[in-house]
Amino acid sequence: MVKMPAEVRETLEKQKPTPIATADASGTPNVVYVSFLKVLDDETLMISDNFFLKTAANLEENPKMAMVCYDSETNKSFQIKGKIEVYKEGEYFDDMLRWVHGINEKLPAKAAVIMKITDIYEAAGGPGAGEKIA
Ligand SMILES: Cc1cc2nc3c(=O)[nH]c(=O)nc-3n(C[C@H](O)[C@H](O)[C@H](O)COP(=O)(O)O)c2cc1C
Repeated sequence: MVKMPAEVRETLEKQKPTPIATADASGTPNVVYVSFLKVLDDETLMISDNFFLKTAANLEENPKMAMVCYDSETNKSFQIKGKIEVYKEGEYFDDMLRWVHGINEKLPAKAAVIMKITDIYEAAGGPGAGEKIA
């Protein structure tokens, strides 16, 4: 696991909605927006699965995710990649349910998708683009 530097966390927390990418076992990519994404700690993100179809199937076959964030004020951009665990009960699930239903109790809140961050890359254009930073 790696820890998000402050600039990565700040950039991600301003990215709404966030595009998240998954892939099936054969490598076919898929990307969707999520607005229910929050930072639990510097190594851990939580996403609420409300409407995932291909995303949920992909995570069962291949529990990895990538996302990108960009802040137009600072021109900072980062790719964040990680390993996924999906919880349909337990502490993470209960936390997700309180969070999502506190905002809109009609949302399905099917599962808590937990990402443990494994890699972070510079993603702004210019010198250092694509380099691994954590
Ligand atoms: C602005 C926006 C925010 C969204 N936020 C979420 C979200 O937080 N959780 C979720 O499950 N789906 C969310 N969706 C729906 C997904 O983007 C997508 O429609 C759903 O996962 C089905 O696509 P899939 O079959 O590729 O998974 C959002 C869609 C938009 C346009």
